[in-house]
Amino acid sequence: MKSNGRVLLLVGSARRPRSTSESLGTYLLEGLRKRGFETETLIIPKIFGSDEARNALLAATDRSDILLLAFPLYVDSPPALVIKGMELINRHRHAGQELKSQRLLVIVNCGFPEAQHNNTAIAICRRFSQEAGLDWAGGLSLGGGAAISGRPLVKMGGMVRNVIRSLDLASDALAEGNPIPREAVDLMSKPLIPSWVYMLLGALGWKRQAKRFGTRKKLSDRPY
Ligand SMILES: Cc1cc2nc3c(=O)[nH]c(=O)nc-3n(C[C@H](O)[C@H](O)[C@H](O)COP(=O)(O)O)c2cc1C
Repeated sequence: MKSNGRVLLLVGSARRPRSTSESLGTYLLEGLRKRGFETETLIIPKIFGSDEARNALLAATDRSDILLLAFPLYVDSPPALVIKGMELINRHRHAGQELKSQRLLVIVNCGFPEAQHNNTAIAICRRFSQEAGLDWAGGLSLGGGAAISGRPLVKMGGMVRNVIRSLDLASDALAEGNPIPREAVDLMSKPLIPSWVYMLLGALGWKRQAKRFGTRKKLSDRPY
């Protein structure tokens, strides 16, 4: 099959072995592979360990036509290492003679159930895209990312049906050279489960963890 181009997935989560960012990005990458793209994945937190890894990131960026950036929300922002990665790519792109035409799609997931917590992070990425001379293909925003917790989407059944539909629409649009459609954005931002169920499960998980660490009675402490 003739290649449609190269796609680089950059995963911005420090969570190992698997993160929700990786689950979302990998599903989209697989969709693009089926649509004739060559694909590659790099984990951003591993990149800042050495100069070799940093150079590998820049080389992988240079040979790509589409960059997919998938990361978790940390304190209403992209994680620090993702910002560092964006700064590195921006400097590198402006150091060259001419800017290669490349597209950027961003997927952000957060812990709170409402997807709109990701709006500022998506705006930051859009600004990065302008500064670095990348074509903005769009931003997908998911709330309640802990409900996926790094599991492969194909094994998760009906709970992720809107996520899968959104990523399929995004694959189609990218393969046709279009920005991602509004419908994909809207589907991704739909709650995975009702907010009250998510909060209930979150509270139970929190109490279970506290019990494991022997701090069950300290959950309401206010040390400061
Ligand atoms: C340091 C840190 C800061 C976080 N800040 C936020 C936040 O501001 N808002 C939010 O909704 N979730 C926040 N979260 C939760 C993560 O965004 C959430 O757990 C996400 O699903 C993790 O995705 P990942 O598996 O791709 O790492 C934070 C998590 C960490 C570790």
